[in-house]
Amino acid sequence: MNDTPEALTETRGGPENGSMLVRRSRRVGGSVRVPGDKSISHRSLILGGMASGQTTVKGFLSSDDCLCTLSAFSRLGVRIMQPDPSSVHMDSPGFAGLMEPDAILDFGNSGTASRLMCGVLSATSFFTVMTGDDSLRKRPMKRVVDPLTAMGARIDGPGEGSRLPLAIRGTSLKGIHYFNTHKSAQVKSAILLAGLNAAGSTTVEEPLQTRDHTERLLPLFGGKVTRDNLRTTVHPGRLTGTLLHVPGDFSSAAFFLALGLLTPASSLTLDGVGLNPTRTGLLRVLEAMEARSLHIVPAGPPDSESEPYGSIHAGFSELRGIDVPPEWIPNIIDEIPILAACAVCARGTTTIRGAAELRVKESDRIRGIVSALSVLGVPFEEFPDGLSIGGLGPEPRLKGGSVDSLNDHRIAMAMAVLGTRLPEGEFLQIRGTDFVSTSFPGFSTLFNQVTE
Ligand code: S3P
Repeated sequence: MNDTPEALTETRGGPENGSMLVRRSRRVGGSVRVPGDKSISHRSLILGGMASGQTTVKGFLSSDDCLCTLSAFSRLGVRIMQPDPSSVHMDSPGFAGLMEPDAILDFGNSGTASRLMCGVLSATSFFTVMTGDDSLRKRPMKRVVDPLTAMGARIDGPGEGSRLPLAIRGTSLKGIHYFNTHKSAQVKSAILLAGLNAAGSTTVEEPLQTRDHTERLLPLFGGKVTRDNLRTTVHPGRLTGTLLHVPGDFSSAAFFLALGLLTPASSLTLDGVGLNPTRTGLLRVLEAMEARSLHIVPAGPPDSESEPYGSIHAGFSELRGIDVPPEWIPNIIDEIPILAACAVCARGTTTIRGAAELRVKESDRIRGIVSALSVLGVPFEEFPDGLSIGGLGPEPRLKGGSVDSLNDHRIAMAMAVLGTRLPEGEFLQIRGTDFVSTSFPGFSTLFNQVTE
């Protein structure tokens, strides 16, 4: 569906200077395959780097965030080849053979990489320093530093290990039983990864189910994991390299799913998308908002240890605002910016509470969303732990203008989708869009392929 002018024009400006210009889209159609899942790509590299021998990852997400994890393992002495962007071959000496890096490990914008690697590096026999970009150096690290310290880890950093840069002096750890009040898969995974090389077993209990990719992947590497409802236990042991297929990222697919839902003339199919139920909470929310034209066709896999995936078909739906139950938040945490875009085009008010975590993501996402909504002329209320949005219906009378993504990839992409609902003749400029490549390289090309 290529047309001129394109619905989205991207200007690459170098770090923090890129922008996108979006106009109304009349039609959306076609088939899309979104890039690999970010959470699973990080974990594939981490487990592949800890495992002895060869690991091959197919469907790998070659985004800025995942490439930080890849380069960290190169520095730790793992031989890594990338024959094409979506394939990675690793040849690792195994956890005990990892080497002290000769430089600071830079995790860029990636909260997942930095937190999970804290767990991995705490149990080595060497010293590492890790840092990140301006956004990552502001994000809370105590949530992983505290439980790891309880396991015996020696981690130092500003504010008693509250923030990056962190210096980790690898040491012997002991297993713990930890109640993860943060409802965070990053915290859970950091502890489980440390537990693989601790004395005794390590259990993490959560109040609500968070994404479970670490638990699903570990057995594929020979890791011993037992799961009992919201309690996950790892038993120490050696991992062995394997072959992995990463499904498309549901969180990336969500932007296209919303494009299909919000555009009156639309028929969009998303193939090969990860459908892990701990990630697809947005489908449940949209169903509650009366989205009637979403069809999910599961394709696999047959065994419960790996990641389910399938196709999603999205056509136009009139949506109705709802109060999102706070207990659904962990499974939609990355989809709230795009859910906000959907709420703008719904009839009635949508309220999202219990989501204070959004304030410490790649940006303060509550601030980012409400600032953009005020430019677009959408009524909203901001709360410490969420927001409510006064829906303007399927033909919202939005105002064009310029919004700041706060250098946050998901706010940028959500605003690009919402920009397609502007009245004819209006434009939306989105500033700070270079960070889209942290999770979704090629976003604007795919966007222009399906919009007209
Ligand atoms: C992630 C977990 C989530 C999510 C992030 C990726 C992961 O963070 O927001 O984008 O891969 O474990 P929290 O665990 O901090 O909620």
